[in-house]
Amino acid sequence: MLKDELIQRIRLDIEQSLKNTLSEINQNSYERYYQMLAYHMGWIGDGAGEQAQGKRIRPTLLLLVTAANQTDWQLALPSAVAVELVHNFSLIHDDIEDNSQYRRGRITVWSKWGLAQGVNAGDAMLTIANLAIQKLSPHLPCQVVNQSHELLLQTCLHLTQGQYLDIDFEIRSEVTIEEYWKMIEGKTAALFSACTQLGSIVAQCDPMTVQHYQNFGRSLGLAFQVVDDILGIWGDQALIGKSTASDLCSGKKTLPVLLGLQNNANFAKRWRKGNIQPEEVKPLADLLVAEGIQEAIQNEADSLTKLALEELDLAQPQGIAAELLYELTHQLSQRQK
Ligand code: IPE
Ligand code: IPE
Ligand code: MG
Ligand code: MG
Repeated sequence: MLKDELIQRIRLDIEQSLKNTLSEINQNSYERYYQMLAYHMGWIGDGAGEQAQGKRIRPTLLLLVTAANQTDWQLALPSAVAVELVHNFSLIHDDIEDNSQYRRGRITVWSKWGLAQGVNAGDAMLTIANLAIQKLSPHLPCQVVNQSHELLLQTCLHLTQGQYLDIDFEIRSEVTIEEYWKMIEGKTAALFSACTQLGSIVAQCDPMTVQHYQNFGRSLGLAFQVVDDILGIWGDQALIGKSTASDLCSGKKTLPVLLGLQNNANFAKRWRKGNIQPEEVKPLADLLVAEGIQEAIQNEADSLTKLALEELDLAQPQGIAAELLYELTHQLSQRQK
């Protein structure tokens, strides 16, 4: 199979498996409940379409790892569906927690259906994710199914711990860079690391190789969140589909903010007063650029990407799936959305 053909096939199968999994709940007169989930996944409602579906990076990574280890990647589809549903659970709840009105260029679930139904929609996604991963059985040994499910559960816990810290930091005056790494390790890197591990668990790789994939996913996830922080201030709103003002206005302790507080007295003075208005975002962002902070953060993302690539080398992935893993890793650090 050619490289383009493989990635195309993987993308189509992810979307179809997600649709099949969620459509199982579209019954027993719960059609409107299903509609909240299908809307969030980008399949129905105003603005539905590819742009509204998100990038589906996590399941893609997972399946590529399985494929790069001489294993039929279709065996890992239940894990791939599960991680994408966990990701979408976290986004639905994250938008409530961050008071965000837009996601993937559309109104967020909680803005459309209200806070209470937003909570229900997120809970549904998480529960369906847990049911989905059980479908690894009966095609794989019990041990693989149990190990995968336990990893998924541990990851959900870690993710919510990260989200806890993210919100806690908003009201704390002092947050160290070390604490920032711990926070994003939970909220973002844990799921990336689970994806690369889950792919290798289905392929029944030896423990050392699984460890290299775990490290690969962790560094990639840290780099991913650092880039998300960059895009959250300097990104193109039309491309990222979410507000570029909200991180600064809501008092988020992103990496640009923490470095700005350490290195630029004018930025720190204004920040400490709080209540930043949307029209102040551009001049504050410019201050950070002038101080070299934007560049320093991109360098940080590049170093993490380099670490990720070193671990990928050690995992020794094979064939065109390996080539795709290297390409995806490079693309993510340069992404604009
Ligand atoms: C957004 O993740 C949340 C973060 C962890 C930064 P993605 O950028 O992967 O979101 P979608 O699924 O492509 O919209
Ligand atoms: C990313 O949260 C992590 C999760 C959603 C768990 P953020 O709040 O940093 O991400 P965006 O920018 O809203 O996508
Ligand atoms: Mg958040
Ligand atoms: Mg958010």
